[in-house]
Amino acid sequence: MTSVNDLRSSFVDYFARNGHHAVASSPLVPRNDPTLMFTNSGMVQFKNTFTGVEKRPYSRATTAQKCVRAGGKHNDLDNVGFTARHHTFFEMLGNFSFGDYFKDHAIELAWNLLTKDWGLPKDKLMVTVYQDDDEALELWKKIAGLSEDRIVRLGAKSNFWQMGDTGPCGPCSEIFYDHGEHIWGGPPGSPEEDGDRWIEIWNLVFMQYEQHGDGSRNGLPHPSIDTGMGLERIAAVMQGVHDNYDIDLFKALIGAAAAATGADVNGEGNRSLRVIADHLRSMSFLIAEGVLPSNEGRGYVLRRIMRRAMRHATLLGANEPVIHKLVPTLVREMGQAYPELSRGEAMITETVLLEEGRFLKTLGRGLQLLAEETRDMGEGAVLAGASAFKLYDTYGFPLDLTQDALRSRGITVDQPGFDAAMAAQKAEARKSWSGSGEAATDTVWYGLADKLGPTEFLGYETETAEGEVKALLKDGKEVASLASGEEGFAVLNQTPFYGESGGQVGDTGLLTGEGLTATVSDTQKHHGVFAHKVVVTEGSLKLGQPVTLVVDHERRSSIRANHSATHLLHEALRIVLGDHVAQKGSMVSADRLRFDFVHTKPVTEQEMAEVEDIANAIVLQNTPVETRLMGVEEAKESGRARPVRRKVWR
Ligand code: SER
Repeated sequence: MTSVNDLRSSFVDYFARNGHHAVASSPLVPRNDPTLMFTNSGMVQFKNTFTGVEKRPYSRATTAQKCVRAGGKHNDLDNVGFTARHHTFFEMLGNFSFGDYFKDHAIELAWNLLTKDWGLPKDKLMVTVYQDDDEALELWKKIAGLSEDRIVRLGAKSNFWQMGDTGPCGPCSEIFYDHGEHIWGGPPGSPEEDGDRWIEIWNLVFMQYEQHGDGSRNGLPHPSIDTGMGLERIAAVMQGVHDNYDIDLFKALIGAAAAATGADVNGEGNRSLRVIADHLRSMSFLIAEGVLPSNEGRGYVLRRIMRRAMRHATLLGANEPVIHKLVPTLVREMGQAYPELSRGEAMITETVLLEEGRFLKTLGRGLQLLAEETRDMGEGAVLAGASAFKLYDTYGFPLDLTQDALRSRGITVDQPGFDAAMAAQKAEARKSWSGSGEAATDTVWYGLADKLGPTEFLGYETETAEGEVKALLKDGKEVASLASGEEGFAVLNQTPFYGESGGQVGDTGLLTGEGLTATVSDTQKHHGVFAHKVVVTEGSLKLGQPVTLVVDHERRSSIRANHSATHLLHEALRIVLGDHVAQKGSMVSADRLRFDFVHTKPVTEQEMAEVEDIANAIVLQNTPVETRLMGVEEAKESGRARPVRRKVWR
């Protein structure tokens, strides 16, 4: 049997042998695209290379790319557990040409790998082409020797690929594998195409255009190639199973989930076991990258995935937290290919356990309420939006969890009713806030927080990222642009700049875009909104503009060192003065730090010298610093009181 791990390297080796540069997977949280929630395919990290903005020292590349499709244009969350081939997290194998080869060689490379190196029988394969793409059709006939009845012309819905609302795009040609007539389903383009018999295994995109936000499209500098093959799907083919969840990797994860819950792998709970195995991967990979469960943005997608997995664990009879116990199995299976999983194992486990603890407190009562509200409902019934909202608001049930729970009974949720209840609650919160009498400038920030939601912070993972300008302020008022020489505040949808909080100063750096340079002299945080204090030095900064943010690395490194030093100092104080030394406050900047604590008597000079010696000795050990994400209580319990996210030394 060819294992998932072997297949991954076999693919990359094949393309490396054929002149491709093997490039590592990029992160799931895209650094180079402010519009994309998660990396949803292999081409995302090459987006700017296709458009010619970014030059690379190679014109052919190959990757095994981690992808999440849960939220945004490509969203498979609802399908997981119901089909043999959908995942929220999956790996995409791909080869890319940046103005090097085009359609003919792409088809030749793909066909040779599948039928020669991997030995798949030709009569099990079929392809699709974009309806007007006669050239691709002829090439398939010529290169693969396929007859016309094995080549299907399809429209834009399935055969024109686009990464998101903007970005490189083009017509595509997909390769399908026939799992055999014992499985229900039909060839692409037939009424039964959604069945699991004919499965798309590889998509070859002939990148030719760039889509813009205003609906216009222009040609790429050079025709290029972007291909994507789902590793799990091809593993199923190569392992002689038709179901992705029967491949070696998923067998291990499902086996672990069955052992932890006491469920029978072949019994009724199989669907729940699949959901848990799938969701375990997406949650672990996201947490490894620093995404934390929350109620907004990426964090909320993560929370939805986590809670859905947790509900399925309770369906299998687990009343205790179990999902976190599965992390070691995942690390064993995938940690070699993705070392960030091994590095983050303890942190992932802690984060999952914390969320399990939180949700299990209300899950049982929520399920009871749901059962009561739907007791007399039959197929086709609709649950009131207000009930779904109560489940969300009081019991922490994301809407799609409620929908998932009712789906097998054919009951749906009144979504407009749910949205209305949510809007009413927000309006209520606004009303009570405006009465609180805070300063006028704060009103502006509160309004922006309400309108835009919190800024996504990327700075634990990177010091450079793209963001989109969501609001600009000049003299406390919202404006549409800041011209050269003007000063104000810029809010973006995401940022690597640390916003001043918890006594740590905000980051400084640069903000650049087409013909634009602005310096950032401070970053503050207001109600979760990161305010970059900017002066435009060249061009103008406009609303809606994508910009590149670069943190002043040297200054950040000094701040980081001083931050770590507060922990060293705290530890040294505890050793010398006693365990009662708790942090009461601190101030961390690039050139100094202050640490406040309570001690019943003055610290003597000798004690001070001892504290210094201990802290310095640890500094001299030069131990690597690790970021850990924890809740406030947990951080306090661990004895080094620094809430939520912090650096600790070990
Ligand atoms: N971008 C294409 C896809 O995701 C091919 O990689 O299907």
